[in-house]
Amino acid sequence: MIRHLRSINDLSLDQIYFLLESAQNFSQKSTLSPPKNQFVAQLFFENSTRTHCSFEIAAKKCGYQVLNFPTKTSSLHKGESLKDTLLMLKMMGVQAAVIRHSDDLLFENLSESPLSLINAGSGKRHHPSQALLDLFTIKKCFKNLDQFRLGICGDILNSRVAHSHFDLWEKIGGKILISAPSALLPSKKKLPGHVEVCSFEELIQQSDAVMMLRVQKERHQEIDYDFSNYHQDFGLSIERIKKMKESAIILHPGPYNLGVEITQEVVDHPKSQILNQVQNGVWMRSAILNWILEKV
Ligand code: CP
Repeated sequence: MIRHLRSINDLSLDQIYFLLESAQNFSQKSTLSPPKNQFVAQLFFENSTRTHCSFEIAAKKCGYQVLNFPTKTSSLHKGESLKDTLLMLKMMGVQAAVIRHSDDLLFENLSESPLSLINAGSGKRHHPSQALLDLFTIKKCFKNLDQFRLGICGDILNSRVAHSHFDLWEKIGGKILISAPSALLPSKKKLPGHVEVCSFEELIQQSDAVMMLRVQKERHQEIDYDFSNYHQDFGLSIERIKKMKESAIILHPGPYNLGVEITQEVVDHPKSQILNQVQNGVWMRSAILNWILEKV
C-alpha cells in the first residue's frame, strides 16, 4: 500500500513520534545519501519559499531525484486534469508528488492517486509538514509536553497551519489557545474541544509557545475589520514578550510581515525559534520523504 501525507489524519501517534525521531537523526547526519533511482515531483500552484525549497533540499540530501513540475506551462492549461497529470508522472517514473494548492479539498478529490501524495499546503485547511516541523522545534525546546499550551495568534480563520495544529494536538494531547480579531476567528461551534479562544494578553501569559501568524489578506473576501491598529492590538512586541512565561518560546511559520504581527526585534529575540523552524523544516521534510518513499 502506498503512503500519503495528505493531512495529519494520515498519521498514527506512533508514526508522528517515528517522524520526530527520524528528523532528529537526519539533523545529526553530516553526509549526503548516495543518489537513488526514485523521483519526487514538486507541483506548487501557490507561492512558496520555505516549503518548496526545503522539500527540494531534503529530497536531494536523501539522494532522491527532484522534478520541478512546470505548473504555469504544463498541459493542465490544455484541459488535462490533475489526476491524469499525476498518472502521466507515474508512467514516467515519479514515485511521490509534493503538492501545494489553493483548494481546501484537493487531496480528498485525489483519493485514488497512483502516486504517493504529500500535502505542501492546501487552501485554508491543511499544512501537515509545517505542523510537524513546528512540533519538532517545540520538542527540541521542551523535553516534556505534559500540560503543554500552544498559543496561536493571528489569522486563524484562513490559516492551514493553525488547522493542522488543531489536528496534531488532538492526537498528541495538549491545549491550544487562540486569539484574533473576531473577523479572523472560526465560529466557536466549529472549534474542537482542546481549542479555546482567549484574549491576546491571556494567550501571552499562559502559553508555552506563542505562535504568531501572518494576516492572509490574499484569502480575504469582504472583511469587517479595520487593520490600522492591528499591531497595537494583536502584534507581538518586546513589551508583550516580557509578560511571557520564562521558559516560553516564540514561533512563526513564515512568511512574516514586519510591523504587523511581529517586529524584527521579536524575530531576533532569544525566545524566538523562528529561524530554527526554517532549518528544522529540512530535517522534518527529509523524515517525511524517507517515510513515504521507503514504502514505494
Ligand atoms: N510556512 C510556509 O509554508 O512558508 P512558504 O509559504 O514560504 O512555503
